[in-house]
Amino acid sequence: MSNLPKVSVFIATSLDGFIARKDGRIDWLEKANTTLPTGEDCGYQSFFESVDTLVIGRKTFETVLSFETWPYGDKRVIVLSTQLKQVPPRLAKTVSVFSFAPKMILENLTAEGSQHIYLDGGRTIQSFLADNLVDEITVTSIPVLLGEGLPLFSKVMADISLTHIKTHAYANGFVQSRYAVQK
Ligand SMILES: NC(=O)c1ccc[n+]([C@@H]2O[C@H](COP(=O)([O-])OP(=O)(O)OC[C@H]3O[C@@H](n4cnc5c(N)ncnc54)[C@H](OP(=O)(O)O)[C@@H]3O)[C@@H](O)[C@H]2O)c1
Repeated sequence: MSNLPKVSVFIATSLDGFIARKDGRIDWLEKANTTLPTGEDCGYQSFFESVDTLVIGRKTFETVLSFETWPYGDKRVIVLSTQLKQVPPRLAKTVSVFSFAPKMILENLTAEGSQHIYLDGGRTIQSFLADNLVDEITVTSIPVLLGEGLPLFSKVMADISLTHIKTHAYANGFVQSRYAVQK
């Protein structure tokens, strides 16, 4: 277990805990991001540089595919899906599709030499949390209420205790908190 890579979540939610609208749109987040001063990325680039591999859900992959440019450069990306069979040829060098259970995914990535994983997508994060495989969670809370949408968190079998690491309030109202998951 101790050999497994570190697994970190770095995500934005509405104040009422949603990562996207029900149909997957993140227009509210894109709009909020325009209120940040030029050059302020709330620590994203530094976090991104600290990871060697991304593990993302199929729905997050579909959102990212709709962006004008592929945002993950040459980083290794694992897309979790039982439905997706292949990825666009231009991404075949770095992107693979897995459909294993979370623990097996981490064991495979350990064998590849991965040390720090960026885990993304609500259902994906929930499935790793359920198996006690998440180490750190950074949530940037956006000052907006959506009322409904896709939740970051869901039911858990037992309480998951967290240790607060730090919180920073940005001038535009974003509030970012980092927690370690007690294992
Ligand atoms: N606010 C933010 O910062 C932020 C960040 C990331 C994403 N998002 C948004 O969140 C939305 C997606 O979140 P989501 O909760 O709907 O989904 P998600 O986690 O991105 O994708 C869910 C899908 O991943 C696959 N999956 C997850 N765990 C699996 C496992 N262990 N084995 C096999 N397949 C697995 C399944 O695909 P199959 O159905 O193919 O089996 C499942 O339907 C998108 O709209 C995205 O834009 C927002």
